[in-house]
Amino acid sequence: MSQDDDHQLRVSKIRDGTVIDHVTAGRALTVLAILDIDGSGDETVSVAMNVPSGETGRKDIVKVEGRELNQDEVDVLSLIAPEATINIVREYEVVEKSRVDRPEVVLGVLSCPNRNCISAGAEPIESRFSVLTDGVRCAYCETIIRAELAEHIDVG
Ligand code: CTP
Ligand code: ZN
Repeated sequence: MSQDDDHQLRVSKIRDGTVIDHVTAGRALTVLAILDIDGSGDETVSVAMNVPSGETGRKDIVKVEGRELNQDEVDVLSLIAPEATINIVREYEVVEKSRVDRPEVVLGVLSCPNRNCISAGAEPIESRFSVLTDGVRCAYCETIIRAELAEHIDVG
């Protein structure tokens, strides 16, 4: 490790678990909400926000120790952190590295902004959105969410 890397290392390396790297700056807490990680579980979680990345960029990083997140769990993150990489770490080594993939449908994570939508009614119905190239569409009422997707994520 170079001197420079050393200075850049803000959060310690982990022994076993998952590192979600290259998260869009400012989105780390939304990542935790989507993954339903709130510190009440057994796993140790570290978050670094607004870390310099590359020449001009910034990123967030989330490290979850003792838990290997699977691809389905992390794919929903593609909606708010499309550049994220998923690193599975065992015995301090990155043994698997992948990008998040856009899923075709997202179940239960987003809430429909249309107050008349049956999924937003008193009867709890799992929300269902199909993923478009530039947003998502409610399967019940066809409402499309494009911008501010993160605001519609149910952090329940
Ligand atoms: N990491 C960690 N603990 C380890 C190994 C790696 O926390 N035991 C973190 C690194 O700090 C980095 C990420 O996992 O944030 C990916 O590690 P690595 O593949 O070694 O880094 P890069 O090659 O820089 O990754 P990329 O090319 O994806 O930017
Ligand atoms: Zn709807």
